[in-house]
Amino acid sequence: MKTVRIGIIGGGLMGREAASAFGRWFVLKDFPVRVQLTAVCDLNEQVLEWYKQIDSVNLLTTDYRQLISSEQVDVVYIAVPHNLHRELYIDILRAGKDLLGEKPFGIDLEASEMIAAEAARLGRFVRCSSEMPFLPGPQRAIAEVLSGKLGRIFEIRAGFLHASDMNAQKPINWKRQSKYCGEIGVMGDLGMHALHVPLRLGWKPTKVFAQLQKIITERPDGRGGIATCDTWNNAILSTQVDIDGEQVPMLLEMKRLAPGETNTWYIEIYGTEGGVKYSTKDTKTFWQFTNEAEQWWKRTDLGFQMPFETITGGIFEAGFPDCFMQMFAAYVAEREGMLQGKFGCATPEEAVTSHRVFQAALLSQQTGKFVDVYFPAAVAV
Ligand SMILES: NC(=O)c1ccc[n+]([C@@H]2O[C@H](COP(=O)([O-])OP(=O)(O)OC[C@H]3O[C@@H](n4cnc5c(N)ncnc54)[C@H](O)[C@@H]3O)[C@@H](O)[C@H]2O)c1
Repeated sequence: MKTVRIGIIGGGLMGREAASAFGRWFVLKDFPVRVQLTAVCDLNEQVLEWYKQIDSVNLLTTDYRQLISSEQVDVVYIAVPHNLHRELYIDILRAGKDLLGEKPFGIDLEASEMIAAEAARLGRFVRCSSEMPFLPGPQRAIAEVLSGKLGRIFEIRAGFLHASDMNAQKPINWKRQSKYCGEIGVMGDLGMHALHVPLRLGWKPTKVFAQLQKIITERPDGRGGIATCDTWNNAILSTQVDIDGEQVPMLLEMKRLAPGETNTWYIEIYGTEGGVKYSTKDTKTFWQFTNEAEQWWKRTDLGFQMPFETITGGIFEAGFPDCFMQMFAAYVAEREGMLQGKFGCATPEEAVTSHRVFQAALLSQQTGKFVDVYFPAAVAV
């Protein structure tokens, strides 16, 4: 069986999550490719310590150039602050490696376009991380839309809600500072997650009206002082998408201050004949609307119906580590030409499109107007 050798750059929160997915790869049933974590890079030596427990890792380094020049690495998963995306992603591609890059895939539109253009020029297999759509609920929502049973779709709502910033005493980190996180702030953190399914269904915003908020503007700096938080905390984007020639409203919410929400990803799609609703708040619950003499929202508990079959019992519920692993399985399967019509990871083009929406949102916030999302006549990617 073929083995794909993986290197991780950025061993923090997401680097460890990725390592754990590779470590239990055998839960995938009859999956045709193995993965092996061979190398990890992080600037912080203490972060690297954790990876010493993984036998397959034979390179631990603080210099990413050493990792990308290693013969032991075929694919790089990278999870570093946004200000580093452009330079590091492009260096990875130029070193001859394929890439699963974390969102937002560049700190801004220009960076995302440069990464996508380089990937296309070099012919590398590149995808952008967005795992929530691999849960059973979003997969079912997509299937219902594609079945045509919803009739004429007239409204879409999608979002990703966090509450951790409600704690004003939480010390600042790079995600709360524009120079590292990007001027797009929370849209860069959560926006690709909210847009992945709509974009895959062909719902590309053409106009946007944005309400962006900076709610907590100072935080403890962790050294006894106070530091400025200059990123947008919350974003509500009223967008418009063209569905079969009709202009349909699509509301996108990305929030770091959403009271009580730990990691709530949701989507709601309403049509004239039916509708679907899913939220990770009720992880296994899928809601389906039927427009009969009496109108019904029917609720069903979904089991472990993952895109890639696993050994896990069908009645068990799926969680974050599961969808993250499924995303990697989709990456590896697609790279091998074995996706077989299953849902694939976000593409560079989708990541660039998300940036176009966020850039238009910044302009809308500045001008107080509903603005067009700019798409060049011929997109290079
Ligand atoms: N897919 C998701 O659900 C999800 C969730 C959280 C974060 N993210 C994304 O993952 C990326 C990283 O976020 P995180 O939460 O893991 O951050 P983190 O701060 O926990 O980890 C980042 C790591 O990168 C390391 N690093 C910084 N510069 C480096 C360099 N030049 N070379 C090597 N290592 C370097 C840091 O030491 C740190 O350990 C971001 O793009 C973020 O948007 C994705």
